[in-house]
Amino acid sequence: MSKVTVVGAGAVGATCANVLAVNEVANEVVLLDIKEGFAEGKILDMFQTSALQDFDTKLTGVTNDYSKTAGSDVVVITSGLPRKPGMTREELIGVNAGIVKTVAENILKYSPKAFIIVVSNPMDTMTYLALKATGLPKNQVFGMGGALDSSRFRCYLSKALDANMNEVEGMVIGGHGDTTMIPVTSMANYKGIPVSDLLSKEELDKVVADTMVGGATLTKLLGTSAWYAPGAAAAYVAESIIRDQKKVIPSCVFLEGEYGQSDICIGVPAVIGKNGVEKILEVKLSDAEKAAFEKSAAAVRATNDVLKEIGVL
Ligand code: LAC
Repeated sequence: MSKVTVVGAGAVGATCANVLAVNEVANEVVLLDIKEGFAEGKILDMFQTSALQDFDTKLTGVTNDYSKTAGSDVVVITSGLPRKPGMTREELIGVNAGIVKTVAENILKYSPKAFIIVVSNPMDTMTYLALKATGLPKNQVFGMGGALDSSRFRCYLSKALDANMNEVEGMVIGGHGDTTMIPVTSMANYKGIPVSDLLSKEELDKVVADTMVGGATLTKLLGTSAWYAPGAAAAYVAESIIRDQKKVIPSCVFLEGEYGQSDICIGVPAVIGKNGVEKILEVKLSDAEKAAFEKSAAAVRATNDVLKEIGVL
């Protein structure tokens, strides 16, 4: 029996719950929100698709009742405000830090063994906060940004290559910010062929630029931030834990010397399985990528410092 809780029934959380339910990743999916009746409504709507989509995942919607989340194997935290057009993810810290801290503490009370996947923005800093606030080991709390950014990278690469996206590999490391993420072009490949052999510098530069503003482009179009890809990315990470798939997923994890960094949660490739973050892979980066990673870490650290300034850590 497996149970996944998604906290926050907004567009990202509901999409994540829906993907988990339809794919029968867990036996039970609990969706929790603070807004009265909101999670219950979304869950009822999903339940009414179960005969059409042929799934029998148990679905539970609750208003702020954490006792219903008890014994969860995985908890996805999506709570907080999404960004508006023109905003950076970092600007959300003031509002979202307090929310994420409270959610993490409530989760810990009822599901001390749960693996916590943080989605709320600014994601790297919210992951660091959830890790510190719960005091849980580093394999148990991590963030999903790299799964999303890498998916965007692979989609844009496959479009530029006119190739099947399942045959295109690519990952994005570093922070989950418009200017902090690093699409690792040196390792991106199509069936093992380096993409730099197949795309011109201009084409590859455009893929990288589109990837980095993948979320911002959507925020401009939608008036709020994206949900299909972020929700699916969080479900993808949760599935790798529940089914012990041991997928290599760029994830926001706590570093203790890897990539020359310590006391920071930032995106690096990690093996995700039944023990959460099972291994961090240290891949060979180009000199430019190494320098970009250092810059990215400095930016994430500056956002982390705000947690102390506003008194949440
Ligand atoms: C995005 C937000 C969810 O990248 O961070 O779409």
